[in-house]
Order: sequence, then structure tokens, then C-alpha cells
Amino acid sequence: MSGEDATDGNLEARLREQAYFRPPSKFVGQANATDPAIYDEVGDFPEGFDRYAELLDWDEQWDETFDGSNPPFFEWFVGGQLNASYNCVDRHLDERKNQTALLWEGEDGEQRNITYQDLYREVNEFASALRSVGVEEDDVVTVHLPMVPALPITMLACARIGAPHSVVFAGFSASALAERVDSADSDYVVTIDGYYRRGEFLDHIEKTDEAMAELDDEPEVLVWNRHDEPRADVADSYTSVDDLLADHRRDRVEPVSRDAEDPLFLMYTSGTTGKPKGCQHRTGGYLAYTAATSKYVLDIEPEDTYWCAADIGWITGHSYIVYGPLALGTTSVMYEGTPDHPHKGRIWEIAEKYDVDIFHTSPTAVRMFMKWGPEYPDEYDFDFRHMTTVGEPIQPEAWLWYYKHIGDEDAVIVDTWWQTETGGHLITNLPAIEDMKPGSAGKACPGIEPAIVDDEGDPVESKSGQAGNLIIQRPWPSMLQTVYGNDERFIDTYWRQFSDVDSDDWRDWNYKAGDGAVQSSDGYYRILGRLDDVMNVAGHRLGTMELESAVAEVEDVAEAAVAARQHDEKGEVPDVYVVLRDGVEVSDDARERIVSAVEEEIGKFARPSSVVFVTDLPKTRSGKIMRRLLEDISNDETLGDTTTLRDPSVPEQIREQVQSD
Ligand code: WT7
Repeated sequence: MSGEDATDGNLEARLREQAYFRPPSKFVGQANATDPAIYDEVGDFPEGFDRYAELLDWDEQWDETFDGSNPPFFEWFVGGQLNASYNCVDRHLDERKNQTALLWEGEDGEQRNITYQDLYREVNEFASALRSVGVEEDDVVTVHLPMVPALPITMLACARIGAPHSVVFAGFSASALAERVDSADSDYVVTIDGYYRRGEFLDHIEKTDEAMAELDDEPEVLVWNRHDEPRADVADSYTSVDDLLADHRRDRVEPVSRDAEDPLFLMYTSGTTGKPKGCQHRTGGYLAYTAATSKYVLDIEPEDTYWCAADIGWITGHSYIVYGPLALGTTSVMYEGTPDHPHKGRIWEIAEKYDVDIFHTSPTAVRMFMKWGPEYPDEYDFDFRHMTTVGEPIQPEAWLWYYKHIGDEDAVIVDTWWQTETGGHLITNLPAIEDMKPGSAGKACPGIEPAIVDDEGDPVESKSGQAGNLIIQRPWPSMLQTVYGNDERFIDTYWRQFSDVDSDDWRDWNYKAGDGAVQSSDGYYRILGRLDDVMNVAGHRLGTMELESAVAEVEDVAEAAVAARQHDEKGEVPDVYVVLRDGVEVSDDARERIVSAVEEEIGKFARPSSVVFVTDLPKTRSGKIMRRLLEDISNDETLGDTTTLRDPSVPEQIREQVQSD
């Protein structure tokens, strides 16, 4: 989809309307949101959002719900003060200190039931430990941890002392880690010796070791242990968390009152150009919005066992494994491993064992389950009442499979559209109120005002089924505050194209999502995918430019371009087209160096699916690479317009070459 013309009428022809599914009555009977009046109440802008903030405990009540006087730097719950760790932990102790907060399943079969009381103790002790090594309020702490309890404990400990965390997905390479530490000016890195993946104990600390070598200013490194005994070599200059905690047993740390607008965390994400952007999220608006959507969209009750099978290293895990669910005081499941280890029924085995009520996963995972076949879920006795899909468009076929084989035709499904930048769901149905329609994310969330515009910013007629650029016309509490340290880039990336950037009236500012969408006559939005050079590989966002610059660093590479190829399971995978320097022969060695450059610069999950050596890339007369044509070739589609090319014969030559390979 990337690079496709948003206003291409042909798109519409490809989208067939689907039948509706009514939410099962057993779901509706118990749901948290059943009265459609919620749309009007929350939509009463901006005070409607007070109702979300009231789900939290505040140290100081806010004076003003929304301050739009300095767009696009909007402020929420101005004057209010609160602490996210207090809201996710302490405030539940009176009612449910012995209830499980985190139910952790290690890949090796190890289990931990962490009650709210346990979480309280561990978060306090680690917060005290962080302080003892010098972490102060507003210091950014980079966290490079896999799916182990140390990860949410570290996040909540940071939040307790007012130190924004910047979690870097464990699958990211040493270079990606170093880049994020450097970009955030972070003086602290929290990591772990290793973790389990497909039965193997992975050395994780080596990524920190390598990252240190790339950094001018070495941060202080704190290392958790996956076991009682460390399994990997740990440098002497690092601090062992176990040793440190031994000095902080039973310590208690008063949660720091943070202004609603103080940052809670950074989350780096890929964009069209340049380096990853640090999306900065605020404390009050973010927590209020994620708690409210966890309640009304995910239908979480404190008594539930809720499982979001995503990684906390991405925004989904931040909002909907840690902050939203714990703010509501529920039991949130965490799984360390992969879904097919040691067998393909692992997910359903865990769902049965813990009697999971609410399940949350991605279309990529659904397509994989579908490929494995229904015999795996059929073998286990589990019963979901609610299921979520997130991260990419879900094909109606996959939706129907999920509904039938996982939901047993009596669970409701929400298809939630949102982004790292939006902090929480913006388009999805309130599950007891609207009917489901496979392949459509659904209506706008209460209080959210999306619209579809053409490339000039002119509105596409609403409910017309015409494709265009998705924008959000009104601010919302969990929107990113800025790109860390780079307000200009924040404005350029998200606002400039569809806003009157000279205006100081917030109504003239429209948030650009970067996605194409259509709205059908029933008001449901269907998301078409990214319109920029960003691809979505198995639910992970990857910038074309990042991949290309990793490849360009390989010796002998003269030029490279990356195109997204459609993939049955992963959604998209990167194909790399490379021109080698004059006189350099095509070789397996060059191919391997290119693949490992991507693995080293970004991570193994970004591995190119194929490397194609070409003599020239399709370029316009002004020298711009036409990636769209490469995408046509990768996807075996009819070549788009080649008349603007300097050499119109190039794409055809490449196609012949790809077909003969
Ligand atoms: C991009 C954001 C949202 C958390 C996980 C991804 C795509 C997300 C959907 C959906 C169609 C979706 C969009 C968006 N996307 N959810 N339900 N239907 N597309 O967060 O890495 O920031 O990626 O994911 O293209 O822009 P992210």
C-alpha cells in the first residue's frame, strides 16, 4: 500500500462490503459500555474527557480539561497532579492486595503469580534502587528488557520516581539500542543477562556490550538476572540488580506527584525519513485515556484475566498490558516465549490454564494460527468473551477464522486502529453498542473526530466510500506531546500538511495519521494502510529509509531501495534492490553482508526477504527513486506510470530479472 495514491478510485472497487455480526447477548448483558449516550457525553469537547480522568486517583484536581492556546502543543488536565505507579499499584491494595496483578508464564514453563502486594513491594524496592544509583526525576531511563516481570516492574519504578522510561524492544539490535540511548540523552540503561527463545537461552547482555562500544558517553548499566545465577558474562562496570536490591529490601518510595503534563515515557518509532522519532507521552492524559479505553473498548473488569499477547516493548504492550489494565486493577497475563514453542498449541494451553476471559492479538498472529489449523485451539478448553485485533488491517477471511475457531462464535471482536503516536485506540467499536463488520475497524471512539481528506486537504465526502488520507480533527488526551527534543519535526511530520500552521486556533490544526482510509455509508472506517514509506512487518513498523541506510553502509553498495512485498502471514516483508559499485561482482557474500547489516543496524525481525542485484533503479528525471514501481515488481502487479522516469525501460528490465531468478 505504501506510496499508493490515496485518492485512487480503484481501491474502492477492491473492497467488498461485509455482513454484520451482532455482539453476543451474553457479552452485551455484562459489558462496561452499553448506553450509546456515552458518545455524546464524552464527545462534549473537551469536558467530556473529564469522565476518563475521573477513573484515576489524582493528588491534585485539574483546573482546566484542555488548553489549546499553543497548537499543536496541546495540554490536558492542566494543573492536575498524579502518579502513574500509584494509580497502577498502590491504589488497589485496599481492595485487592492478594489478587494477581501480573500472571507471568516463562517459556521454560516457569510461572510467577505477582499479586498487587508483590508488585507494590518489587516496584518500591526497584524505585529505591534506581534512586540509589543516581536516577532523578526527569532523567530518561532506557529499558532494554524482554517479556519478563522485570520489564513492567522497571517501568512502574521509573514512573514512581518521575523518571520517563524509554523501552527499546528486546529484538532491536545493539546499534538500534545505542541510537535510542543517544537520542534520548539517557544516562541509564536497564537490561538483563538473557532470556528464553524457542528453548534456547539467548545472551541478551551482549547487545548492551556492543551498544556501549558505539556510545561516546557510557551510561550506567543495571542488569537483572533471568535466573538466580547469572548465565552470561556480565561486565564488571555494570551493576547487578540482585546485588543492588539486596541493599533495598523493604524500602518504600513515596510516589512523586507529577504534573499531568509531565512526560511518562518515550517510545521510539519509525517514520518516513531519518532516524526513529521519540514519541513523548504525558502522564495524566495518557493514563486517563488508556484506562478508559481498556474499560470501554477492551471491556476489562478487575475480576477478569486479560491477556494481550503482544510485547511490552511496543506501544500495544505499554498501553494495553501495563498501564491501562493495571490502572483498572485487573489480572494481566505476560508470556515470555513464542507461540509455537514447544508446540503450536502453546497459546491455547496458557489460555486454558489461566482461564483467560479477554484475548488480544494481531492479524499476523491470526494468519499464523489459521495456517497451523483449527486442531490446535480445538484441543484446549478455553472460553473468551472478548477478543481484540490490532496493528494492521485484518482480512475478512482471517477475521472470520478468528471469530469461529478462537471465539467459538460467541466472543465479541474489536478491531482497534491506533498508533504509537496516538497512545490509545482512536477508531474501533464499543463492542456492546455497535455490530461487528469483518475488515472494518469500525466507528470513531467517543470524543474522537476522524475525517478523510484528499492530498490537498480538501474533505472527501463523508460516508462516501472514497479513499483518502486519514486525519484527526480534534485533540485527544493520549496524543503524543511532541517528538522528543524536536518540536519542528513534530510539526512537520504530523501537522504541517493538513493544518493551517500559522493559526493559533486549535480548530485549524489536523493530525495527519499517515494512513489511507475509507468510510462506508454506515460510518465505519476501513483502514487501508500506510501512505508513506513505512511498512508493517508482522505488526512491526519499519521505515524504508532506515532499512535503506543500513544497506547503504555495506561496502560495495552504490545504491539501494527497499520495497514492501505482500506476505501471507507477515503482512509485508522488505525486498531490497541493490546497485553494486562499478566493477564489483554479484556474490552470495555481498548478499549475506547486506542481510546482516540490516540485522545489525535494526534487528533480526527486519531481515529482508530477498536481495535483488540490479544495474539501475527506477528514477525520475530529478533523480528520485520510484519505490512504487519496485513495489509493483515485488508484488507481481501491473507496472504503474513510468512516463516520468529518466529511463522508462528500467522497471521492465528489473522485472524480467526478478522473474528469471
Ligand atoms: C500503524 C501504527 C496500534 C498499535 C500497534 C501498531 C497500522 C494499527 C490497525 C488496524 C489497520 C492498523 C496503521 C497505523 N494499524 N492498527 N486496526 N487496522 N491498520 O502501532 O507501530 O505505531 O503502527 O499500524 O498503519 O498507522 P504502530
